[in-house]
Amino acid sequence: MFKMNLTDSAFLCLDIGSSAVHGIAHRVRSGRISKSAMFMSESFDLVDATKSVIDELESQIGRHFDYAYVTGNFGESKFDITTKNTVFQNEHRIGPSDIRHQVSEIATPNGFFKIYVIPLRYDCPHMRNMLSPIGHTDNQLVSTYATMFYTHAAMDEIKSVLRRAHIQSNGFYDSQFVLNSVYHTPHETTMFIDFGAMFTTASVWTDRGPIWQHQIPMGGTNITQSIVDRFDIPFIDADRIKRGVFTMLPKTTDRFTPADVAFDFSRADINDIVIPYMTNIINGLHMAATPIMEKHPINKIIITGGASDADGVVDFVSNTFGIVCESMHVDAPVRALGEHIWNLSADDCAKIIARNERMNRRFERILKIFHKKPKKVRKFIPVLPSSMCFDMNNSTTYTTFDAAGISMIHVDIMDGLYVNKIVGGIDTLRKIRSRTTDHLHVHLMTESPSAWAADAIASGADTVIVSTNTSGVKNAIRTIKASGRRAGIALNPDTSPTILKPIIRDLDEVMVMTVEPGAAGQEFMPACLHKISVLAATRKKYGLKFVISVDGGINDKNAQMCWDAGADLLVSGSYLAHSNDFPIAVQSLLKKQ
Ligand code: DX5
Ligand code: ZN
Repeated sequence: MFKMNLTDSAFLCLDIGSSAVHGIAHRVRSGRISKSAMFMSESFDLVDATKSVIDELESQIGRHFDYAYVTGNFGESKFDITTKNTVFQNEHRIGPSDIRHQVSEIATPNGFFKIYVIPLRYDCPHMRNMLSPIGHTDNQLVSTYATMFYTHAAMDEIKSVLRRAHIQSNGFYDSQFVLNSVYHTPHETTMFIDFGAMFTTASVWTDRGPIWQHQIPMGGTNITQSIVDRFDIPFIDADRIKRGVFTMLPKTTDRFTPADVAFDFSRADINDIVIPYMTNIINGLHMAATPIMEKHPINKIIITGGASDADGVVDFVSNTFGIVCESMHVDAPVRALGEHIWNLSADDCAKIIARNERMNRRFERILKIFHKKPKKVRKFIPVLPSSMCFDMNNSTTYTTFDAAGISMIHVDIMDGLYVNKIVGGIDTLRKIRSRTTDHLHVHLMTESPSAWAADAIASGADTVIVSTNTSGVKNAIRTIKASGRRAGIALNPDTSPTILKPIIRDLDEVMVMTVEPGAAGQEFMPACLHKISVLAATRKKYGLKFVISVDGGINDKNAQMCWDAGADLLVSGSYLAHSNDFPIAVQSLLKKQ
């Protein structure tokens, strides 16, 4: 499956039937689903129906879709259980290529392709019934695979509907496969029956996978066509009336009740057509399933599709098979697809959530200190020493920092293009990372901020600050956010805060440069103080969350002015580095009450 961006994206799941399209959409933020929406459009014009589902869900979710996954009426399918036996010359350590080789030998019927090859069991002379033989050493491997096939023709048709609806699919899924992945009860054997438009498909699933599938080339469309042929009415009316009238529990009064105001035939007339069809279909399935049911007793039957909602169908199936039956309603496949896709990202989501919680906890500690309990300043020092003024290869630098309560280090990186100096770099950053668990606050004075940001993140940056006045800033912010790290932007002395308007809501931090970027030891520019106040006022007015930091020429003379203007963090290089007593110098930069 396509690895999704789980920090900020939206994905769509579609169930494309023959006369309706169901859609479910999820908005993903920081490893969680922040918003969902469902919509169904009924039309025989599937392109039209797909378009209206996409438009409606995009407007409800408020964002274009980054990914789309599709299930639906994929037409004729075939199913096969094959055993592959590989004998190795000598004792052989079984690897993925041995499996790939066996799978490649599974014959594919003409015009079909393999949508799933599901291993049911692996047996070797010295180890039987393995879930996976990878890493096992033996001289023979006997594998049993269940393979599901669909036709290229049907898939091309679905793809053309999607193309004309201007959406591309990141994956196609068999509806019973996703239903099983969501609704299968462990240690139980489940049968799924889908009453489709052209086909009625039944499959049986154990914990290992599908062990049987049977498809009857008959479905709702055939029934509707019989009504059309019988009463000579338009297909669309016949289909509508069938859906409205069909029941497996006809009443005597039905004979005298019109099926529809526009036509002069009764409900009973319709069900005289529909019920025999359904009876044949369900009995046909029961007959076909009897051998497998004898070998694998079935615990539950789950029915889906157009007919699954009609009165009496659940009981009829349950009585015919002698097994409890449950209807999952017509939108079950698309809901299951959404859940299946989301479950596949569960591990990655957990990682992002854990990282964000770690960040938030650290951040709340910072914010709490800023805004509420100055008396605990001791615990958190909102002063960041700038790496370019210290020997970051020397371990005493880190102990000095720790002794002064420093927990965030400002790492300057200059590429010699954005500024005419090369300072630091990804290697330096990686080395610093390897020496401390402190929060690394990386200041990129570089062109191509996206590329640099990605490297900085990969090398352990916790916060990445990109510079204005270069191209690709928005992308860089997106890249940083997508990694779950804090994203910030540095406002150079000649840059007004107003340029941040389009992205201000995505920023975790705005850093006001009080010197021209490019060197340490420069004179502090008091004119930039006003910018800090403007940012602080904007933040308050719009309830924004970004943090304000200041970098450049900071010393004990101007630090307080920055705090008073509304700063939350101060970066200092030369002042701290040249001080005789680092902890005292750090204390001298702190906010005076
Ligand atoms: C300048 C850097 C600053 C600098 C700070 O381009 O971004 O971080 O190192 O050093 P001082 O405070 O000495 O100016
Ligand atoms: Zn800096």
